[in-house]
Amino acid sequence: MGLKFYIETFGCQMNVYDSELVASILKTAGYEQSLNIHKAEILFVNTCAIREKAVERVINKMHQYAHLKVKKGKVKVAGILGCIPQYSSDRLKKELPFIDILSGPDNYDKLPQMINDCLKSKKMQENLVLDKEQNYEDILPFTENKHSVFVTVMRGCNNYCSYCVVPYVRGRERSRSVKSILTEVKNAVSNGVTEVNLLGQNVNSYNSEGMNFAQLLNKVSEVEGLKRLRFATSHPKDISDELIQVMAENPKVCRHLHLPFQAGSNDVLKLMNRGYTREDYLSKIEKIRKLIPDIAITTDIIVGFPDESDEDFEQTLDVMRRSGFDNSFMFIYSERELTHAKKNFKDNVPKKVKAERQKRVIELQKSLSIEQIGSDAGKTKEVLIESVSKKRKNELMGRTEQNRIVIFERTNDVAEGDYVNVLITRAEGLSLFGKIVNNGEGSK
Ligand code: 5AD
Ligand code: SF4
Repeated sequence: MGLKFYIETFGCQMNVYDSELVASILKTAGYEQSLNIHKAEILFVNTCAIREKAVERVINKMHQYAHLKVKKGKVKVAGILGCIPQYSSDRLKKELPFIDILSGPDNYDKLPQMINDCLKSKKMQENLVLDKEQNYEDILPFTENKHSVFVTVMRGCNNYCSYCVVPYVRGRERSRSVKSILTEVKNAVSNGVTEVNLLGQNVNSYNSEGMNFAQLLNKVSEVEGLKRLRFATSHPKDISDELIQVMAENPKVCRHLHLPFQAGSNDVLKLMNRGYTREDYLSKIEKIRKLIPDIAITTDIIVGFPDESDEDFEQTLDVMRRSGFDNSFMFIYSERELTHAKKNFKDNVPKKVKAERQKRVIELQKSLSIEQIGSDAGKTKEVLIESVSKKRKNELMGRTEQNRIVIFERTNDVAEGDYVNVLITRAEGLSLFGKIVNNGEGSK
């Protein structure tokens, strides 16, 4: 038996996927995965650097874990993976001197060698090369007992939004080959997966061997046994009519779109280098809703970007009201090293104003969510059961095609991974509530 490893994941869906890649790489090298940190000899955390809070969270967590290595000695190798080492390895070395391995997102295939070298030499190992070719083409990620999986179709980003550190820590954009994506999807489906979520920082610029993202969606949807196909994230400047058409016409492609708008004022959008205006964004939304009336749209919003005035902020609220988002991820601007905004603009919106603006977007979103989600009341929706409800053991939780959460009573004849028809009775917060009306296949 090899040494046991434990991986904890912070951050986005791409990191969840990357941790599955790491698990696969380490298992192939003879290590054994443990889901219990106290049983592990190798401890990895996979990390996110997008906002300062995310960095602080990981550093605090590692301080909590330090005793497993330093005092107890059970952990022989402790490593930090992903975007934080790539962003600021010096800080990690200084604040967490017991760390043995630092690996950026493009170096996971070197981890077995790094672990070996570390065990032999007792010296810290670091690999932060950004490799523009790295796509982990031939590695099948390790997932267990899942009905829904992530499949990364591209890595990195070329957009250089002025606030964003991603292009610096994940490198240049590159698309994975169609062949390796299909191999991975087919493998997942043969293991019982029915829902696949294609991932990339900006999936709309996917391009491999002349195939664009809309065409890739159609191609992947042909995999037999696959029922639902999702994707994220789309960029408003790149989302094409062809893609909207595929969403409207291909029954396997789910009617949910994550389309971050970030800010509602043209001045701020310009400073952010987003490549579209509020009018462009709103007319895209209008077009999408016209072609796909039952679509659910979600977004990301940043408040407190440099120079954002009260008037600018009002424009953000205005875009929210006009767009009718199901849900938004609402962030306070966080200054990042290396970025254009950090180098050229002053982080000049006072903390208090930022917090107040965030509170206002959250409040507005709450009422928009109820309005959007509540429109399902009285309808029967097909739901993929994900798990037992966190709050009540006698209830199940699943999602509709629109990615809306549905809670309903548990019955003995259904289980995780089943699709059931649920009559929606009411909405509360971000959840729908209902009851199963008839088992098995149903209309979306
Ligand atoms: N500060 C705050 N939010 C940010 N995001 C990206 N960079 C920053 C930053 N520096 C947000 C954007 C993006 C989401 C993934 O994170 O809204 O869409
Ligand atoms: Fe960051 Fe912009 Fe790329 Fe998204 S599109 S990862 S916000 S640079």
